[in-house]
Amino acid sequence: MRGKSVLLIIGGGIAAYKSLELVRRLAERGVTTRAILTKAGAEFVTPLSVSAFTGEKIYSDLFSLTDEAQMGHIQLSRSADLVVVAPATADLMAKMANGLAGDLASTALLATDKPVLMAPAMNVRMWQSASVRRNRETLAKDGVLFVGPGNGEMACGEYGPGRMAEPLEIVAAIEQTLAVQGPLAGLRALVTAGPTREPVDPVRFLANHSSGKQGYAIADALARAGAETTLISGPVSLAAPQGVKLQRVTTAREMLAACEAALPADVLVMAAAVADWRPDFAANSKIKKSTDRVVPLIKLVENPDILATLSAHAARPKLVVGFAAETDDVVANAVAKRGRKGADWIIANDVSGDVMGGDRNRVHLVSEAGVEDWPEMTKNEVGARLAARIAQKLKGAA
Ligand code: CTP
Repeated sequence: MRGKSVLLIIGGGIAAYKSLELVRRLAERGVTTRAILTKAGAEFVTPLSVSAFTGEKIYSDLFSLTDEAQMGHIQLSRSADLVVVAPATADLMAKMANGLAGDLASTALLATDKPVLMAPAMNVRMWQSASVRRNRETLAKDGVLFVGPGNGEMACGEYGPGRMAEPLEIVAAIEQTLAVQGPLAGLRALVTAGPTREPVDPVRFLANHSSGKQGYAIADALARAGAETTLISGPVSLAAPQGVKLQRVTTAREMLAACEAALPADVLVMAAAVADWRPDFAANSKIKKSTDRVVPLIKLVENPDILATLSAHAARPKLVVGFAAETDDVVANAVAKRGRKGADWIIANDVSGDVMGGDRNRVHLVSEAGVEDWPEMTKNEVGARLAARIAQKLKGAA
């Protein structure tokens, strides 16, 4: 979202104070905000407090000669990547649904050529009234996006739907909306993450230390860049990234089946630490310590290699990216792995330290063009940089 800009229309509702936090949260993410404060909105927050948060002048008057000289209202409505209305009052919804343009906010909504996201806030009965419902439907048909309202106790003392979505929910909706226009828009990504668990019996399994963090960060970055992203994950304790379709699996064989079912995809990123072997037999009931204390022997058989299988698949993704978790000769092993598994790129990382479970990673990108050493960075940064490289490769994006 860094570098994007939002035009925020603040309507007249008690929830207007939450819009100040919204501006702050957007600023933290490198998004600039210009704000239009309606006359009613100015009853709840002052122009001075809004401009202290946006760091910009506040626009409020359609007929202000000074404002028009600085930035015309048409230009204002198109200057941002997205128009957000928060709080979206019944009045603002009605105006937009009916094409009214009697003030700056409604004129900007009518004149914009950018997506509009509304965060409604109003009394329960108002939200449930026939006219608001009708207006909401009309707006949705016109392509207006909505976030919330949520259920809860309202400032007026009633309970039910009508509470404005929380600032972080609005931020997430903004991220999702902007991603639709991102460099990977229109492409499908398939990502795997986490370990697999190979059962020994109903209470025991073979697994590894993978936390899933790197794979989740990659799925998140691809979705933010606009790709329709499916994440097939082994057992980890991470929540699904916003806008990502998450499917949980347990074993390597389940992961392979889920990946095959998720094809076609334009890009595959195999970040999962798939177990190479599984017990040849998983007992149906718990294996008991025998009375004569004989230690059971577990015979292992090889799991399918998902990366190699999908690289040779009839519906092979255009770009296949594998990982190489190595403890020795990191780059040399990764170069060999790239050839052996038929991947286009291999992200090699040294897992001899505390990479597994940690938040940072130092990787090398092995491609047909050679080896790129990336400096140590957070796993989120690795995800973002990889998503940018994928966009460059598949779309020629800068
Ligand atoms: N991989 C896979 N299926 C497996 C094992 C690994 O798809 N059964 C994928 C991983 O997701 C990763 C790449 O292959 O993208 C390399 O995994 P890694 O564990 O580094 O390599 P191995 O295949 O296990 O090879 P080795 O044990 O020799 O390092």
